[in-house]
Amino acid sequence: MATATTSYSNRILNSELRKRIMSADEAAQLIQNGHTIGMSGFTGSGYPKEFPPALARRMEKCREEGHPLRVGVFTGASTGPELDGALAAANGMQVRLPYQSDPAVRKRINDGDMEYIDMHLSHLAQFMDYGFLGKLNWAVIEVTAVYEDGRAIPSTSLGNNKSWIEAAEGIILEVNSWQSPDLEGMHDVYYGLDLPPRREPIPLTRAGQRIGSPYLNIPLDKVVAVIETNSPDRNTAFKEPDEASKRIAEHILEFLEYEVKKGRMPEELLPLQSGVGNIANAVLFGLKQGKFTNLTAYTEVIQDGMIELIRAGKMVSASATAFSLGPDMIKDVYSNLRDYRRSIVLRTQDISNNPGIIRRLGVISMNAMIEADIYGNVNSTHIMGSKIMNGIGGSGDFARNAYLSIFMAPSLASKGSISTIVPMVSHVDHTEHDTQVLVTENGLADLRGLSPKQRARLVIEKCASDDYKPLLKDYFERAQQNKGAMHTPHILSEAHGFHERYLETGTMRK
Ligand code: COA
Repeated sequence: MATATTSYSNRILNSELRKRIMSADEAAQLIQNGHTIGMSGFTGSGYPKEFPPALARRMEKCREEGHPLRVGVFTGASTGPELDGALAAANGMQVRLPYQSDPAVRKRINDGDMEYIDMHLSHLAQFMDYGFLGKLNWAVIEVTAVYEDGRAIPSTSLGNNKSWIEAAEGIILEVNSWQSPDLEGMHDVYYGLDLPPRREPIPLTRAGQRIGSPYLNIPLDKVVAVIETNSPDRNTAFKEPDEASKRIAEHILEFLEYEVKKGRMPEELLPLQSGVGNIANAVLFGLKQGKFTNLTAYTEVIQDGMIELIRAGKMVSASATAFSLGPDMIKDVYSNLRDYRRSIVLRTQDISNNPGIIRRLGVISMNAMIEADIYGNVNSTHIMGSKIMNGIGGSGDFARNAYLSIFMAPSLASKGSISTIVPMVSHVDHTEHDTQVLVTENGLADLRGLSPKQRARLVIEKCASDDYKPLLKDYFERAQQNKGAMHTPHILSEAHGFHERYLETGTMRK
């Protein structure tokens, strides 16, 4: 077998594909108004970097010429500025799914310039396979190299690439020589998932197990264009954890130790899932200082904190669908991939986030939230009920199916003018049934086995900020005056009073 190395000529080993090499601007000419494009990319990793800006340039030109060019864009999750940022600047997306976190895209969605379908990340591949999303015109996929027979070494994320490649009418490949050839062997692409009613169990019983192929199979006859690139992944640097994040991490670690002592979890814990953002990273850094060893992760993205755990010899294996590393960490990890290949597996996101596997492995899920209500319903996505922040991402895939599902946030936002514990959330992503533990810097509320009223007392007591405790207690006490409606007491005319007050006065305080 030939070996891919860093020069372009031996990254595209198929002579027919080499004949289809063209510039990104030429490839962008293939796209027509209304087309749907499935692109690679998950966080700032593995997204196409030359094609989307070229498409954005063409969109601008089409607008000047008086005819629109707008497309539907499906990805793994969020991407980098060259994709989401460029297409949003050109107002070129009619619809976007399943997740975004780009400020320009967020503004377009909230201004009503485009549609956004915020989906569970595990759902998307099967929605495509079931035919729920219509026709996919193009797959635009970044790969590290392609062999003669069409097997491609994936790049730093797998996301929905397999599904886009299978579903699309035409394929555009970006072969990125910036991606290390040492990625070969890190991926696990499972080709055994049939459609119901023929679907068989997925034979995965350990976080680090490999059940598939290290390669993506590219049907060569569908490849219309090959673009050669040499462009870096772009992930944002993590901030040093602030005091609130450190306190949240401490509460969680203390709780996990207690669970081990109680015999409800093994000494090495169960596979960890850690959500996006700085609090999640603070928990991982906390684990590094802690006493747990032989840890595993079954999660969505490999973040800086997980690499620290692997380096410290505390984590033995980690499964995810993408890297999501800050710039300094990228340099170190991407130049030592051979070492990390022993402990890291990258999978497609229908497997990394698969509800059945998450339930089977008994994952400990830890995700940040925007707000929670006194009963434990969680809002991860919307500001004041209507404005999208990012999206549900994988939080629902994990939270509902986890062995233990933890949601966390500082008790205050926006310099204290917002309480993240409210009488009723302004939007529900995770119901009270999916929330087992709520944590703020003030404390941890273990809600397992509690009724709604018992939960409310604990959430107010343990999690709310002292600034808002009297208001929350007052609401809860008055809500309980309504005999005959005592299961989940609410005063519907006031349930969103905190939010209304904020919108009217700029603070939830009275
Ligand atoms: N009301 C209004 N605004 C709020 C708020 C609230 N209750 N809570 C937070 N915010 C604001 C913050 O002030 C901040 O605004 P700014 O960017 O203008 O400063 C913004 O929301 C994000 O807060 P931040 O402290 O940066 O949070 P984070 O980086 O920890 O992210 C989520 C928190 C919830 C937005 C993020 O975790 C997310 O998108 N989650 C959903 C997807 C998910 O869980 N994925 C993981 C699954 S694997």
